[in-house]
Amino acid sequence: MKLAYKRLTEKDWKTTTSIEKAVADGKVFKAFTKASEASEYLRKSVVYLVLIGEKPIGTISYEPKSQVHAYIDSMTILPEYQGKGYASESLEWLLTKIEDKKVIDLVTHPQNSKAICIYLEHGFMIEGWKDNYFGDGEPRLHLVLAKK
Ligand SMILES: CC(C)(COP(=O)(O)OP(=O)(O)OC[C@H]1O[C@@H](n2cnc3c(N)ncnc32)[C@H](O)[C@@H]1OP(=O)(O)O)[C@@H](O)C(=O)NCCC(=O)NCCS
Repeated sequence: MKLAYKRLTEKDWKTTTSIEKAVADGKVFKAFTKASEASEYLRKSVVYLVLIGEKPIGTISYEPKSQVHAYIDSMTILPEYQGKGYASESLEWLLTKIEDKKVIDLVTHPQNSKAICIYLEHGFMIEGWKDNYFGDGEPRLHLVLAKK
């Protein structure tokens, strides 16, 4: 079934928090623990709920850092829907939506091999390694979309 996308706002913090918690593993992908963190994320970023019919299955989002720069700050698919190509499809949809941005980048944990594969398949390149990027003691890889 085809995926649908719905823009979320601050009032949807419970929806994003429950999806984040369902996919978090405490190391490679950490979830928001406070409502205030989820609200701030929804305020700063453009967040889309990914749906199959009426059923929410994940999220994809970016923070507009400037007119020309978008930072992809989340991509999640609920465990029971993983491995079916939905993250890949959602990322493709988002990249088309923000194709006018000159710079599109993101960070991900170096052990998040599934996410890294998806990003590389969509044209991202690994630009660097950042120690303790979120202050949690864990490193992150910085990936940038190579523009054609
Ligand atoms: C990362 C995540 C979004 C992937 O969701 P998904 O819907 O299962 O991903 P897809 O089914 O679209 O997978 C697409 C690609 O992932 C890769 N992949 C799938 N399973 C993999 C595995 N076990 N190991 C490595 N790569 C794998 C393949 O390249 C696959 O491409 P293919 O369809 O050509 O085979 C999901 O696992 C998730 O929500 N994880 C927790 C949150 C997270 O880490 N998000 C990324 C933060 S930067």
